[in-house]
Amino acid sequence: MLPQWIIEKKRDGHALSEEEIRSFINAYARGELPDYQMAAMAMAIYLKGMTPKETAVLTDAMMRSGDLVDTSSIRKPKVDKHSTGGIGDKVSLVLAPLVAVCGLAVPMISGRGLGITGGTLDKLESIPGYRTNLSEAEFIAVIKEVGCSIIGQTKQLAPADKKLYALRDVTGTVASIPLITASIMCKKLAEGIDALVLDVKCGKGAFMRTQKDARALALSMVRVGKAMGKGMAALITDMNQPLGRTAGNVLEVIESIETLQGRGPADLTELTLAFAEEMMRLGKIAKSKAAARKQLETALRDGSALRAFRRMVELQGGDVRVIDDPARLPRARIQVPLPAPSSGYIAQADAESIGKACVVLGAGRTRTDEAVDFAVGVSSIRKIGEPVRKGEPLLIIHANDEARLSQAKELLKIAYRIAKSKPRVPRLILERI
Ligand code: URA
Repeated sequence: MLPQWIIEKKRDGHALSEEEIRSFINAYARGELPDYQMAAMAMAIYLKGMTPKETAVLTDAMMRSGDLVDTSSIRKPKVDKHSTGGIGDKVSLVLAPLVAVCGLAVPMISGRGLGITGGTLDKLESIPGYRTNLSEAEFIAVIKEVGCSIIGQTKQLAPADKKLYALRDVTGTVASIPLITASIMCKKLAEGIDALVLDVKCGKGAFMRTQKDARALALSMVRVGKAMGKGMAALITDMNQPLGRTAGNVLEVIESIETLQGRGPADLTELTLAFAEEMMRLGKIAKSKAAARKQLETALRDGSALRAFRRMVELQGGDVRVIDDPARLPRARIQVPLPAPSSGYIAQADAESIGKACVVLGAGRTRTDEAVDFAVGVSSIRKIGEPVRKGEPLLIIHANDEARLSQAKELLKIAYRIAKSKPRVPRLILERI
């Protein structure tokens, strides 16, 4: 079949055969099918959707466009977590070493921040020397010794997705459930995992604004993972306000270290433990939820999770002195509080405006090739439901540039709303799939 006939078939709303999807994606990955035909196909999929079977075949074809990580020499259950992205979402930094010391292997291939959402790789690269570009042999060796390794996507991992994602970005075809599903899952499934837990964020600071959309995406990804024989679970979690009390790379690393020391913010700790329990259940290494919780809390309390993080950083070339003494990490030149305009209770700490302010400060990027300023961001974020007095800080802004600071302040002022009476505190975990 000619590519244009396959495009026409999808344009007219018909399901494509396995053979049609595979030949289309393989030709695109090999550079034999031009971007304009792939863009037309992406738009047809965007408008007409795909069946679960088509989505699974698309995912598999994209996964097989590159190398698959061979984790067969790792004897432990291999389980990973993926988040669809949010503001202040540093769960992976705490979660990976935490479940590693409890007996799982975590081969985590992560992404950089894009738009207002932060990225695990940027956070880790704010630790001087930390290498995210390990070879496969190095990656496997770190996992064997520590139980986890967090690295970036190699050129050989799902190259069809790399090309297609860039194309979708400029053709208005990002927000399509089958395309997002295939894009996320092809990379995760190429990691050689047995099971995957998904954090599908929902709210103003997330890709999916409503619980209905988040549920549809979660179900689609869970279905594809299961069709490929993987253990799957998903939690839909709130992203109307940032997670934890910091947003910005160095600031989030410091908060992650505190959480690994058992003194992190309640929401970050709770969410990390919830994902850890799911991972242990899927990896079949805990007798019960209560037993898993006990083991996880012990690993935070006795320092073993922090030691695993320290060793991972060390093996990946990072300066571990910053873990013992976070004051060694780069800090922003300017640190100023944003004062509360009135007394009352925090009714809104809008993740979208706070995320935008962080991008303005330089903590995030608007283009994939942009550099980030590791030191800037916000800390001491006051959360919904907390009392505040007029003049007290709503958060602390960390900036390296006066002009950026004043732009960020404008965004941060509208992020907050203060009410006279105590508002309902939003639930952190909205749904389990
Ligand atoms: N993240 C991805 O990797 N792909 C998407 O399509 C959306 C988010």
